[in-house]
Amino acid sequence: MRNYRDDDAPALSQAIIDSYEHLTPWMDWVDADEAADLNAHRERIGRWSHEWKVGGDSYFGIFKGDILVGACGLHRRGAPDSLEIGYWIHASHTGLGYATEAAAALTRAALAIPGIKQVEIHHDKANVVSGRIPPRIGYDFAGEWPREKDAPAEIGIEWRWVMTRSD
Ligand SMILES: CC(C)(COP(=O)(O)OP(=O)(O)OC[C@H]1O[C@@H](n2cnc3c(N)ncnc32)[C@H](O)[C@@H]1OP(=O)(O)O)[C@@H](O)C(=O)NCCC(=O)NCCS
Repeated sequence: MRNYRDDDAPALSQAIIDSYEHLTPWMDWVDADEAADLNAHRERIGRWSHEWKVGGDSYFGIFKGDILVGACGLHRRGAPDSLEIGYWIHASHTGLGYATEAAAALTRAALAIPGIKQVEIHHDKANVVSGRIPPRIGYDFAGEWPREKDAPAEIGIEWRWVMTRSD
């Protein structure tokens, strides 16, 4: 897993195009026109690099050699002492443990940051594949909350999983 570079734009674009039908049920940001727009990806990578420099959200590509097999990140969406993990995996590279391994590595990295006391993984209740990952790496189930239904397969109930520093 590493930060994106400017020249990752074509690989990111292709991964999203290849995975379009796999991602759209669950990810509201996936857009068919934008997926093919290399400038849009370069701009996005530029924004992510800036965020990294100023200590904002972190966005990483997951690579096997030169192949982009997925993406993940650490996001400041909750309390100041917590980070939230996000992930998606290329449709041709699922079921190999990449999301599990990425989430475990991000959890360790997040809890090593001074001031971060807990890491969370949120997903729609209907996204059972995503929901199998946090308990596999030791997260506790924190409960369910109603939330806006953003993507087509979602039912609008969010499941939250938590790992604290003491865990
Ligand atoms: C959800 C998603 C990220 C899972 O990615 P993935 O890389 O296939 O997940 P993993 O491979 O880590 O785990 C999936 C299966 O692979 C199996 N697996 C195979 N090898 C493995 C290994 N070495 N380590 C761990 N699990 C492994 C797991 O057992 C698991 O099966 P199970 O849940 O039936 O037990 C992926 O399906 C995806 O991108 N979905 C669309 C986008 C999305 O929903 N993102 C999350 C939004 S909250």
